Amino acid sequence: MKHYEIAVIPGDGIGKEVVPAALDVLDAIAEVHGGISFKYTNFPWSCDYFEQHGKMMPDNGLETLQNFEAIFLGAVGDPQRVPDHVSLWGLLIKIRREFEQVINIRPAKYFRGLDTPLKGPNDFDLLVVRENSEGEYSEIGGRIHRGDDEIAIQNAVFTRKGTERAIRYAFELAQKRRGHVTSATKSNGIVYSMPFWDQVFKDVSQDYPGVQTTSVHIDALSAFFVSKPHVFDVVVASNLFGDILTDIGAVIMGSIGVAPAANINLNGKYPSMFEPVHGSAPDIAGQGIANPIGQIWTAKMMLDHLGHQEIGQHLLKVVEDVTQSGVKTTDIGGTGTTKQVTHEIICRLKR
Ligand code: NAD
Ligand code: IPM
Ligand code: MN
Repeated sequence: MKHYEIAVIPGDGIGKEVVPAALDVLDAIAEVHGGISFKYTNFPWSCDYFEQHGKMMPDNGLETLQNFEAIFLGAVGDPQRVPDHVSLWGLLIKIRREFEQVINIRPAKYFRGLDTPLKGPNDFDLLVVRENSEGEYSEIGGRIHRGDDEIAIQNAVFTRKGTERAIRYAFELAQKRRGHVTSATKSNGIVYSMPFWDQVFKDVSQDYPGVQTTSVHIDALSAFFVSKPHVFDVVVASNLFGDILTDIGAVIMGSIGVAPAANINLNGKYPSMFEPVHGSAPDIAGQGIANPIGQIWTAKMMLDHLGHQEIGQHLLKVVEDVTQSGVKTTDIGGTGTTKQVTHEIICRLKR
């Protein structure tokens, strides 16, 4: 029996609805396959926690998380109560950085049963590798000068090490897929970081003569995600570009509510973290209508990471079967609630 200790942080808003749903599904698939079990330890770190304690997690929060095999997170943020930069940098981004989760993998593919807004061919299957630790997300040297002429200064940090690591990861994945890497650039408008990014991309590509490469400016690339996503295999992008591209990747599948993500620690020193692409969706929180598929597919990515690819594949197949059968939430054209969709997935898993 393989047993896993998982730290669970439901977070805010719909995170508190889709995380329990995904854990029920995870338990069901573990039961069906046998030989694998999970113990979940729940951490209520969130904007509620912030209002009670003045911080998003306790001072020893990271120490506590360190001993788990993986972290399963819902979403963080309740901007009406806590400013986003405070809640996110106090929890989600803090964990990504301190635990050196330097790569964010975000797949997008044609998903059976989902209507896509695409006009062209919809048989796409792509993987965005998002640099997850630096880039445009930086506190270094930034500040706001107040006074009559207010100025906000925001630096971006692109290290050779961080850039190369993300790009190399993309090439490695491409070798196991269809052998093509697209780099998201913007070297026509951003004069330091993006020419540097292009140079590193070119340098790394020398080590992978069997992999085809293309560089596309992020503006055009965003348009191509809508007009011809089927041409992409692996796409590598900086932190911000990857963030934006993956919301597009989600919506071309059918909804922001279905896309999964994995924040990967590469050096084995810290746990990796699994959380969907979507946020806490305050506009629908508490209504029981959030789409659980993003969180459930995220559980599949956690299964893959733990070495249970076959179980993960089975899980995704069942979720697609259920979607195709018409049991779905309102964001993807159904009438189902979070609980109904989850129940249907569990029933079909056990069939
Ligand atoms: P969002 O992803 O929460 O919501 C965008 C839109 O998509 C909303 O209309 C929402 O209802 C819908 N949506 C999202 N997930 C859905 C689901 N599972 N089912 C059905 N509909 C869904 O993005 P936002 O509104 O920009 O952000 C809300 C809060 O979440 C903010 O505080 C933001 O900072 C935070 N956020 C957190 C994460 C994270 O923790 N990983 C990610 C993104 C945003
Ligand atoms: C995501 C989110 C976060 C990000 C925000 C909430 C800081 O949008 O995980 O996609 O930009 O990384
Ligand atoms: Mn995002």
